[in-house]
Amino acid sequence: MCGIVGYLGEKEAFPIIIKGLQRLEYRGYDSSGVAILGGASGLQHHRKKGKVEALLTEVGENPPSGHLGIGHTRWATHGAPNDVNAHPHLSGDGQLALIHNGIIENYHALKETLTERGHEFYSDTDTEVLVHLIEEVLKSSEDLDLFEATRIALNEVVGAYAIAVIDIARPEELILARKSSPLVIGIGEGEYFVASDATPIVEYTKNVVYLEDEEVARVSLTSGMKIRTIRNHKVTPVITELEMALESIEKGGYEHFMLKEIHEQPRSIQDCLRGRLSLGHNTVRMAGIDDHEPMWKDAKRLIIVACGTSWHAGLIAEYMFEDFARIPVEVEYASEFRYRNPVIGEGDILIAISQSGETADTLAAIRMAKERGAHVFGICNVVGSSISRESHSGAYTHAGPEIGVASTKAFTAQLTVLTLVAMRVGELRNALDSQRRNRLMVELESIPEKIQSMLDQDQKLASIAKVYMSAPNALFLGRGFNFPVALEGALKLKEISYIHAEGYPAAEMKHGPIALIDENMPVFIVATQDAHYEKVLSNIQEVKARGGKIIAVVTKGDKEVARIADHTIEVHPSDDALVPILSTIPFQLLSYHIAVMLDRNVDQPRNLAKSVTVE
Ligand code: M6R
Repeated sequence: MCGIVGYLGEKEAFPIIIKGLQRLEYRGYDSSGVAILGGASGLQHHRKKGKVEALLTEVGENPPSGHLGIGHTRWATHGAPNDVNAHPHLSGDGQLALIHNGIIENYHALKETLTERGHEFYSDTDTEVLVHLIEEVLKSSEDLDLFEATRIALNEVVGAYAIAVIDIARPEELILARKSSPLVIGIGEGEYFVASDATPIVEYTKNVVYLEDEEVARVSLTSGMKIRTIRNHKVTPVITELEMALESIEKGGYEHFMLKEIHEQPRSIQDCLRGRLSLGHNTVRMAGIDDHEPMWKDAKRLIIVACGTSWHAGLIAEYMFEDFARIPVEVEYASEFRYRNPVIGEGDILIAISQSGETADTLAAIRMAKERGAHVFGICNVVGSSISRESHSGAYTHAGPEIGVASTKAFTAQLTVLTLVAMRVGELRNALDSQRRNRLMVELESIPEKIQSMLDQDQKLASIAKVYMSAPNALFLGRGFNFPVALEGALKLKEISYIHAEGYPAAEMKHGPIALIDENMPVFIVATQDAHYEKVLSNIQEVKARGGKIIAVVTKGDKEVARIADHTIEVHPSDDALVPILSTIPFQLLSYHIAVMLDRNVDQPRNLAKSVTVE
């Protein structure tokens, strides 16, 4: 979704802001813009529909010059993606420039009031209303400065925002604020950086301050940093050190971030397991659980909330928690859960899964569960993200930054963490015997190596992709632990190749989707040798009998499926619960190759955003 970058210091702001916007491109956007403040040149303001490249072309050979600036990538919500609606937006007198992530829910009412007071608007955005509101407050009293005016104005705002504001009259300061949309301030030597996530900041400084909800900050070259809440309570800034490494947000020789991230999985799973498997004691160590042992032992029920790929991880976890820990589990789309009147309260544990840790619906579900007395356990990839900070306890996936919009390594890391959590809870509840625990631990240790051998089949997968790249539709099937893998396979294919794909439990095929099968329909199916093997074999026969093409993920050495399928891709045998971490890899690679062959924008597919910070 939208991205924010700001700079205040001695260097030229424009190149830093452009580089920052390019680092944020992965979030998804449809227009971009900058406002740079420079001595004699005043406020230089450029906005353009399309990619940052288009903005650079618009700016031409005379880039704006100045030491204070803000830049934005916009993912349209209010108003079409065009030049006029792109940020930064200016106040009526042209003195203030503002960029904004989030949605001002009461913008319509504010706009009416401001219009009655003589304000005129040029865009359809909620953001323009906000900058006019700040202008109105600023002009209401000579005693107010921009910091105070912004703080007071935000008390009238309903909705979500991360904002950065500059004023022609104040070239030495940058005003920032947030509510329900993240904002990070980087502190350098005599300079400040601001961004909606740490990726544009990490190459300049590791010292950052994460603004909290309803906080307003002023960074100034003369008076440093000052933070107050919008209700005017003083806040002492807490400086934290970024753990992110610069290499982790660069492509490192790969053609796309998605391919790099698929190939990183042996390492990301190792990082995720590090320090958590204690084979000597035949146990799993997870502080987020060990610190609340009685609660997990006595929990009445688990409710898992998530969106997209993270929701698929939750579905697989349901099978694991039932199998290992014998505890009732419900898995919910966060967006549905938050708008129902769910029965949840003390004794329930809500597990929120999110790569970004910023997904608006998941965050809202967490807040609702907390209000009703449930314990919230967050599983996030982004360290310091809103969900990780708002959860009572939790575990990081440690997959490293995931830049490709299509989630790959974050998914397998989520599965790994969920396996560990389910094992530990199973142990605490005396539901997982020590032999199975030991087998699972040994198996988990071998997963990175098994993934590596799947990645080595990349060329074979590229040649299968070539056969099916022109298919208009695709069906993904699986059963048991591998049913959610089918859902994830379909999501991966549709989001990056734009081929229509559906995922189903294989047994459901007869209840409808079988009508779609003909010689043009590729059916991707997980047919590994588990409890459902024989039944899946029958499903394969049913597809073949109707002329469908079968691309099957099978257990290494399998002969039965190979006899009937058009293509087979082998995975190493493993415990049924761990197979999804392996069986999902070929679907990632197949989707990737098909999308590349179709010349799609693999890392930034159309209309999608990496971190969905609006509902
Ligand atoms: O950051 P989150 O895990 O909360 O994001 C949830 C979904 O938006 C995300 O998984 C999305 O479905 C991905 N594009 C899937 O590849």
